Amino acid sequence: MEKILDLISREVEEAFEVNGYDRKFGRVSLSNRPDLCEYQCNGAMAAAKEYKCAPFLISDKVADSLKDNTMFSAVDSVKPGFLNLRLDNEYLAVFLRQMSADAGRLGCEKSKEPKKIMIDYGGPNVAKPLHVGHLRSAIIGESVKRIGRFMGHTMIGDVHLGDWGLQMGLIITELKVRKPELVYFQDDYEGEYPKDAPFTISELEDIYPTASAKSKEDEAYKEAAMQATYELQHGRKGYQALLSHILNVSVSDLKRNYENLNVSFELWKGESDAQPYIPDMVQKMKDDGFAHLSEGALVVDVKEDSDTKEIPPCMILKSDGASLYNTTDLATLVWRMQDYRPDEIIYVVDKRQELYFTQVFRCARKTGLVGPETELKFLGFGTMNGKDGKPFKTREGGVMRLEYLVNEINEEMYKKIADNHTVEEEEGRKTARMVALSAIKYGDLSNQAAKDYIFDVERFTSFEGNTGPYILYTIVRIKSILKKYQAEKTLPESAQILAAHSDSEKALMLEISKFNGMMESAFVDTAPHKVCAYIYDLANAFNHFYHETKILAEPDAIVQAGYICLLELTKQVLEICIEVLGFEAPEKM
Ligand code: ARG
Repeated sequence: MEKILDLISREVEEAFEVNGYDRKFGRVSLSNRPDLCEYQCNGAMAAAKEYKCAPFLISDKVADSLKDNTMFSAVDSVKPGFLNLRLDNEYLAVFLRQMSADAGRLGCEKSKEPKKIMIDYGGPNVAKPLHVGHLRSAIIGESVKRIGRFMGHTMIGDVHLGDWGLQMGLIITELKVRKPELVYFQDDYEGEYPKDAPFTISELEDIYPTASAKSKEDEAYKEAAMQATYELQHGRKGYQALLSHILNVSVSDLKRNYENLNVSFELWKGESDAQPYIPDMVQKMKDDGFAHLSEGALVVDVKEDSDTKEIPPCMILKSDGASLYNTTDLATLVWRMQDYRPDEIIYVVDKRQELYFTQVFRCARKTGLVGPETELKFLGFGTMNGKDGKPFKTREGGVMRLEYLVNEINEEMYKKIADNHTVEEEEGRKTARMVALSAIKYGDLSNQAAKDYIFDVERFTSFEGNTGPYILYTIVRIKSILKKYQAEKTLPESAQILAAHSDSEKALMLEISKFNGMMESAFVDTAPHKVCAYIYDLANAFNHFYHETKILAEPDAIVQAGYICLLELTKQVLEICIEVLGFEAPEKM
């Protein structure tokens, strides 16, 4: 379906044209004075300059041409030359009926030029538990992916595990201290390696921090870890077998954690998967004359004349020949281009890595790894702070494990729900988890990604205000009215959304009509916060309507059936929106 703003604009543009003015002046926007009108056109002001006459003269003529147009109930020309528009109630009802008839999409068409978009979000590090720093990437990335998919694009999410480098050597070293008898450490071992991992996830999570702490104090230990890393990276069999155990154990734990967040990835690739592509990539950069030695390191210059701040060269190999984070990201681009040829790659990463990604992107373009037909986009997010305005920590001041944070909020929510009603324990827990997830995700997504925000558990879990639970509460309220209606009556075949009977009903209908335009713009701007802002307005409009209208007690059966159709559509719009945000509504709460 066409966007309502486009439909309205077309009529007004035509009216400008009919009166001898350029159509471009007829563009309509939402009113910024909702008390006066619903839509407005300020084009006469600009046209007046071009046609050298009073703007009022133009707006008057245009208004006159539109006065019999059935799309509008009022077209007012207001001094000095504004056009104030009100939509005809019947026209709006027809628009909403068309939305209702378009099952599953509600008038939002899929893109006519579907793209293949890869999205790099996640970036958890193997053997280290997920912490809140990974939360934003997961929540924002998942939503961007779902919005893209809803708009008809092929979206491929890659977790891009941090599974390479010194951390692996550290784990191996500590494991050798704890269990030196394992066959993985025997130089002359020829047999098959055991199928089961020689550690559990909790051991693994203990091994890494221990090793990391020891290496900071004990030089010899650190040497050993570096040596183990080197041997692992150069193909030592026992260590590679250990690496796959570490990966398996860690990945199944990560999957469980992401699942609890309603987040999933199409690809579970890691930094280690990029390593085989490094030698050829580096060789080519050298052969083509892009990479040169600088103080022993191999670098590619990426500064440009138009830079206003210094962009340092992109380092490809350290002076000892070791690869870096950069090298891995560049080599990852090699396989992404080779295997997928995406139209676009989006990186959802902490905004403090912005300069780093500028270097990587420029290097990839300059060396021809990525051609001009593929767009590289950095979607940097801000820090999640505690109420003290500092990065979110546990009460003891340590890094908060994501799992603990989620459990804490689940618990909080369960208490609230159990206080409100008598619920079965199991049912109550399930509902609490759903509502808690909406609190966490909406709390994050309702902010512009690039901004820092304060993670305020109390505010986020409130059932009132601009929160996830408020949105869910609204959906549950609608579901409950629909259920009550259905328990007593069957909706007649002929039931349909009717022209608004009140201002609050009209306001709700106008909000609903923005759906397809909103979703398109949320996609184009990679901006889930636009979906949040929209459903907050929509939920408010619905609740206002609900408080002013007796729906179940409405005596006129046709009017009542019309309300029910309107509620059904409101519910569907809200449900699609929370689905792309990555959470769901319970049946009751
Ligand atoms: N593992 C990294 C970290 O914890 C994040 C990875 C982000 N993605 C990327 N392609 N570099 O900081």
